[in-house]
Amino acid sequence: MKILAIESSCDETACAVVEDGRTIISSVVATQIDEHKLYGGVVPEIASRRHCENIVGVCDEALIKADLKLNDCDAVAVTYAPGLIGALLVGVNFAKSLALATKKPLIPVHHIKGHIAANYIAHGELEPPYLCLVASGGHSHIIKVKDYTEFETIGRTLDDAAGEAFDKAARSMGFPYPGGVHIDKAAKLGDSARYKLPVPKTENPYDFSFSGLKTAVINLVHNAEQKGDEINKNDLAASFQHTVCTILTSKFIKAALDNGYKTIALAGGVAANSGLREMLTEQAEIHGMKLYIPPVSLCGDNAAMIGSQAFYEYLAGNIADSSLNAVASLKL
Ligand code: KG4
Ligand code: ZN
Repeated sequence: MKILAIESSCDETACAVVEDGRTIISSVVATQIDEHKLYGGVVPEIASRRHCENIVGVCDEALIKADLKLNDCDAVAVTYAPGLIGALLVGVNFAKSLALATKKPLIPVHHIKGHIAANYIAHGELEPPYLCLVASGGHSHIIKVKDYTEFETIGRTLDDAAGEAFDKAARSMGFPYPGGVHIDKAAKLGDSARYKLPVPKTENPYDFSFSGLKTAVINLVHNAEQKGDEINKNDLAASFQHTVCTILTSKFIKAALDNGYKTIALAGGVAANSGLREMLTEQAEIHGMKLYIPPVSLCGDNAAMIGSQAFYEYLAGNIADSSLNAVASLKL
C-alpha cells in the first residue's frame, strides 16, 4: 500500500510516499529555518504562509521523485495534531482536497506517533511492545508503545520540552535558532564537568522539568556578562548537554527497568543529539536492552514518519472524512 503523506505542523513543509509503513519511496522536506532564524524562533504566521506557498511544489516533487501519479497512491495521510494551528490547517486542508479529488482514504496522524514510527522505517524488525523516549522541540515523553496504535504516556515534561531547553539555552550563549545542533557541535570541544548545573527533582520519577536548568544557564551567562567575565561557550554547551542527556537517559532507563522493557527506542528532533545517542547506547548495553534510534535524517520533522504511522492507523480503521480538523494540542 502506497501512502502519500503530508506534514506541516511547524516549520517544515514535507511530503513523502511510503510503502506498507516501512519503505520510503520518496521524501521531500522544505525547511523554513533560515527565515525564522531572523526572529530567533518560529513565527507562526510566517510558517503558515510559507506552507501555503510550498505545499503544492513539495508534493509534486515527492510524486516526481517516486515516479508516481497522484492516482497511483492508495491513500492520503496528514499530520492533524499537535502543532501550530495555522500551519497544521494548511496540510489538513490540502490533504482533504487531495483525498476528495482522488476518492482515496484520508488518514489522520498524530505528530508524536509519527516521530515514534520513524523507527519502523529504519528498523525493519522493530515491532511493539517497547518503551519510547520522544524528545522534540515541543515534547518530552516516555511512552509505552503497546501496539502500533496503542500508547500510554508514563512520563512527560512539566514545563519546557528538551528541545525547547536546548534552543533557549543556545540562544543565551549566542547561537542561532534552532540551537540544539549548535550546542551539540560546541559540546564536542568542551569540558562537561566545567559548569555545575541543577538537576531538577520531580514527584513522578518519569516526568521531566527543564525550565530550571534552562534558567540556570541564562543566569550564568547574564551574571558573567555583568561582571565582565568570559564564559567558555564550548564548556557551557558540554555541561548543559551532559546534564540534559543524563536526565533524559537516567529517567528513561529507570522507566524501562521498572516496567520490564528489554526493547527501547528513541525519537524526535533531540534524538539527533550525538551526546544523547551515545549515552543511551552505553546505558542500554549495560542493562542488556535492545535500543533502536532512527538515523539523524528521520529524527527531525519529515513526512516519511507520518506515512509510516498512517499505514498502521489505516490497518486499525482510523480513517477520517472531510470534517477532519486540525488540533493544536492533543494527547496521544
Ligand atoms: O521533532 P522536531 O524536529 O520538531 C518538533 O516536533 O518539535 O524537533 C526540533 C528540536 C529543536 O528544538 C532542535 O533544536 C532539536 O530538536 N534538535 C537538537 C539537535 N537537532 C535538533 N537538539 C539537540 N541536539 C541536536 N543535534
Ligand atoms: Zn516534530
